[in-house]
Amino acid sequence: MMKENWNMPSLDKAKQRSKNQAVIEKSLFNIPFEVENLGVGRKYYLRTYGCQANERDGETIAGILEAMHFTPAENVEEADLILLNTCAIRKNAEDKVLGELGSLKRLRKTNPDILFGMCGCMAQEEDVIQTLLEKYPHVDLVFGTHNIHRLPVLLYQAMMSKEKTIEVFSKEGEVIENLPVKRFGTHKAWVNIMYGCDKFCTYCIVPYTRGKERSRQVEDILDEIHTLIDTGFKEVTLLGQNVNSYGKDLHLEGGFAYLLEEVAKTGIERIRFVTSHPWNFSDEMIQVIAKYDNIMPFIHLPVQSGNDEILKIMGRRYTSKDYLTLFHKLKDQVKDAAFSTDIIVGFPNETREQFEDTLKLVDECQFDNSFTFIYSPRVGTPAAKMEDNVSMEEKESRLQELMEHTNHWARVKNEAYEGKVVEVLVDGISKKNENVWCGYTKTNKLVNFIGENIHVGDLVNVKITAAKSWSLDGEAIK
Ligand code: SAH
Ligand code: SF4
Ligand code: F3S
Repeated sequence: MMKENWNMPSLDKAKQRSKNQAVIEKSLFNIPFEVENLGVGRKYYLRTYGCQANERDGETIAGILEAMHFTPAENVEEADLILLNTCAIRKNAEDKVLGELGSLKRLRKTNPDILFGMCGCMAQEEDVIQTLLEKYPHVDLVFGTHNIHRLPVLLYQAMMSKEKTIEVFSKEGEVIENLPVKRFGTHKAWVNIMYGCDKFCTYCIVPYTRGKERSRQVEDILDEIHTLIDTGFKEVTLLGQNVNSYGKDLHLEGGFAYLLEEVAKTGIERIRFVTSHPWNFSDEMIQVIAKYDNIMPFIHLPVQSGNDEILKIMGRRYTSKDYLTLFHKLKDQVKDAAFSTDIIVGFPNETREQFEDTLKLVDECQFDNSFTFIYSPRVGTPAAKMEDNVSMEEKESRLQELMEHTNHWARVKNEAYEGKVVEVLVDGISKKNENVWCGYTKTNKLVNFIGENIHVGDLVNVKITAAKSWSLDGEAIK
């Protein structure tokens, strides 16, 4: 059953890109008077899946809900509103959410007024909305990644009318500046510098779920960072699907290299950024990263494949040689840099030889950390229409084989830290042992360490005593 007032997603519409510059909206968001107290006496439970951009959206959603006087619930049982902020990147990400939605349904028995909502990237997909309507009728509210600012009104509609509410815009999007935020961290923060993606890698759903590439203005980003510094934050991670494209739409001279340098000049202790695409990583960017001590020597540089034909069909715009040239330039120019990457195995028709090119590249680069995935067809993307002669069994065995290589290098890289002294930004008590502190090095290594008089947010020198595959052990030194 379709309702006239529903606003349904369209992947076809989401694909369109005009030359129009994105409008920067500074006063679009408001909470109407009648909605302001909707959350009084009500608790919300928000669960976010997926990437850092989605985490940051979660902080905005929590900010909006708390501005409407909702308070956070400790667990789903005590919640009046449950919101799943979802990720659509691979089928298993979606299956997790649908499984969760199914199991949450039970809560309506004990709390008939409970409201179930779904937002994030899955909400942008037509087939997901169909599945929700057919198999998950208990979901009351669905809103898309371009509709977050509409949450107060949409919630009011869903709660008061008790009618299913669906609002998913599939437009290019604007940049909305005045949204509230509830930071989940106390000393590390995510800072969006741009939204969307125009790369259209043939396997990827993100350009459809997040709209056109559009940059925030330099002043707005710097204002946000100054506020963070003033409130005690030590680290910012600048977020964009491809930060290298920052500023293109604003015709900003210097682009991301310029922004990064301005951020470095704020003096904040630690700066990170994700994700930089290997295709248009400029020499100016490398120079800025090398020049400033507060830009962390850690670069996430997704390669996806080591084979040129596969890279071409993926639409990645670089060859393995281009990648290696950039990789070695960064390694030479950025002192003690660490690298991580993303790799997809089992892309349609990938041959054994093509896969072996990926293994060769991994062994040459010796990544500190690798995120490895089996290709997952996404409805609406070009790759999903390609025939595929690689069996799932073969894909799984390639993933295992790849992980033997990536895990080996992760361990070797960690072992090189034994006996060294590194600076760690303290996150808190380790999850496994309350006498142990944890935090990350400049190169993004997790360190578990012991020490006296340590506080969350401190920068501490730690001597590494033992290396494990995924973390380091150490002792704080005075
Ligand atoms: N903007 C980032 C990537 C965001 S998605 C970039 O371009 O690097 C994170 C990772 O998920 C990608 O790097 C890719 O390795 C993986 N990924 C994306 N789509 C996928 C798909 N359809 N199947 C399997 N892995 C995928
Ligand atoms: Fe997806 Fe490619 Fe854009 Fe990354 S750059 S989000 S992989 S389309
Ligand atoms: Fe997932 Fe959307 Fe991020 S698909 S990876 S949450 S942009």
